[in-house]
Amino acid sequence: MTVVGPFGLSMRDQALEADVQTGLAAVEAGLLDATKSEVPFINEAAQHLVRAGGKRFRPLLVMLAAQFGDPYAPGVVPSAVVVELTHLATLYHDDVMDEAEVRRGVDSANARWDNSVAVLTGDFLFSRASQILAELGPEAVRIQAEAFERLVTGQILETAGPRDGRDPVAHYLDVLAGKAGSLVAVSGRFGALMSGADEHIVDVLTQFGERLGVAFQLADDVLDIASESHESGKTPGTDLREGIPTLPVLLLRARAEKLGDPDDVELARLLSSDLSDDARHAEALRRLRAHPALEAAMAEAVRYAKEARETLVPLPECWAKSALAELCDAVVHRAG
Ligand code: IPE
Ligand code: IPE
Ligand code: MG
Ligand code: MG
Repeated sequence: MTVVGPFGLSMRDQALEADVQTGLAAVEAGLLDATKSEVPFINEAAQHLVRAGGKRFRPLLVMLAAQFGDPYAPGVVPSAVVVELTHLATLYHDDVMDEAEVRRGVDSANARWDNSVAVLTGDFLFSRASQILAELGPEAVRIQAEAFERLVTGQILETAGPRDGRDPVAHYLDVLAGKAGSLVAVSGRFGALMSGADEHIVDVLTQFGERLGVAFQLADDVLDIASESHESGKTPGTDLREGIPTLPVLLLRARAEKLGDPDDVELARLLSSDLSDDARHAEALRRLRAHPALEAAMAEAVRYAKEARETLVPLPECWAKSALAELCDAVVHRAG
């Protein structure tokens, strides 16, 4: 039994392990190729975060989903390159929006260069993803374009906040489905579709990706508070600093309103204040880390991961199915 990748999946079958490793190695080569430019500066900026690593969670899902058809079918690797490139482009843009200085353990592009370089490099990566997609045909283009619309809508809704009278947690979950569920769903879908798997399997893996993506982002939002920089490769408390209320904060607020515990009310007030001040930010982070709302948010992530796992039931029994089930636990029980 070999443990593969940062998620520590135990691929209990040699053939599966070989397929996944071969696929992911081809994706790495594909990413380096797709981010090359004759303009040295573009080359450097575009490869900056590719070379910094990352978990390659979405390509891994493509590879596992492709096990339900022919994992060596010609569209599998390019489709995995497309989802990772799209993800990567959103990271360049996200770090501008979040004013993040660290990503994948290195300087973010906006910190290393500036916002314009980061935005334009993100655009460059989208254009390269589109060129690969065009080769995969109109259906692939449509799937990706629809998902991308959902992703961007999620990001905009996050920025806009809930409209009057809308439950903030329901709004938050809509945001997550858009900004995270959409692209992870495409990963499951592309893997199955490109491998030539049956239509009902494609649907199951799309559904699975959607839920897994939400679980993944719920965990990410907990990790933003709980994780240290050396584990996540990012700066802890970025969401707090940016005033983005994620589930731990929303649960704390709801609890403070309902029960009125003075400590909770005070913490809720602190969290709603300007946290660009380092001392206030550190205090908010310290107190939220110790608050039961953080565990409650984690429990939600675990619940979504369990729901994702349940969507796998109709799939035929095989090692890939076991690995996908394991992935559900791994996305929520990770350190970074
Ligand atoms: C970070 O994604 C952005 C989110 C959608 C949470 P990942 O956690 O997959 O980032 P990398 O690719 O491993 O750096
Ligand atoms: C961004 O979410 C999700 C996308 C990039 C679509 P976050 O802002 O939580 O991602 P991180 O934590 O910076 O990776
Ligand atoms: Mg961010
Ligand atoms: Mg985050």
